[in-house]
Amino acid sequence: MVMFEDKTNAPCELFTIVKKEKVSSVINRLVIYAPDIAAKAQAGQFLIIKTRETSERFPLTLSDWNKKDGTITIFFRETGFSTTELGQLCIGEKIQSIAGPLGNPSEIRKYGTVVMACGGLGTAAAYPIARALKEAGNTVITLLGARDKTLFILEKEMSSVSSAVMYSTDDGSKGQKGQITTILQGLIDKKEQIDLVFVIGPSIMMMVTSEVTRPFGIKTISSLNAIMVDGMGMCGACRVTVDGQTKFACVDGPEFDAHKANFKELIQRLKSYASEEKIALHGGNCQCHNHT
Ligand code: FES
Repeated sequence: MVMFEDKTNAPCELFTIVKKEKVSSVINRLVIYAPDIAAKAQAGQFLIIKTRETSERFPLTLSDWNKKDGTITIFFRETGFSTTELGQLCIGEKIQSIAGPLGNPSEIRKYGTVVMACGGLGTAAAYPIARALKEAGNTVITLLGARDKTLFILEKEMSSVSSAVMYSTDDGSKGQKGQITTILQGLIDKKEQIDLVFVIGPSIMMMVTSEVTRPFGIKTISSLNAIMVDGMGMCGACRVTVDGQTKFACVDGPEFDAHKANFKELIQRLKSYASEEKIALHGGNCQCHNHT
């Protein structure tokens, strides 16, 4: 793990990066000075980020916030042009604009036992929800899934708010080999009390998880990772179908009943800009800084 931290006491300008950490070979964590957002943030909400004046806007989940320091924390993986561009910024540099907190907060109340099923970077969104659920008196069981053991994030934090944490990896390098749905199915088969499942991760993982809980009538909530542009209900980019009705993930969600969400359509829409993204990433004006 490589950590970068601003040791100067220079006063921060809005949206200045105050801490940058590479938490795995591909995942970055940024702590950003944004006191207004930190003051209002709630679990389940997200941000729309515009890295530079000419950049595109894109959504990222709010993973943590510190009202006293006026900072917010985000995690991201450099997978496309926008996230690669964000990854080029260094400590002390400013992000052009951050809109947030956006979206409806998670419905936090006492459910009983809640399983947090987290796939990859979904853990960044799941952590504040798990923390709030624990504070509301729930028992939280966390399932963390990733391709391999180097890709887990927030393990200590999730452990601190969970009564149990179970792992799965595609390659078997940590926990059970395979998917977290197998662990979830095992808990259901053992007749463990499960009052609610929160599933956050890649769309396909959320779809498969919702099919595990559906036959047992276990209420399942997913945070839909739709394409977003304005994040305020005006552009229509985040259209999703839930219970046969068109909803905007940004203002009606991002959390929906996973048993009613049309994941196949969501997956199709997410794929529709893949070729443009490839061109932007490899044909754009990349000015790679080396942070490590
Ligand atoms: Fe534009 Fe939701 S992101 S309507």
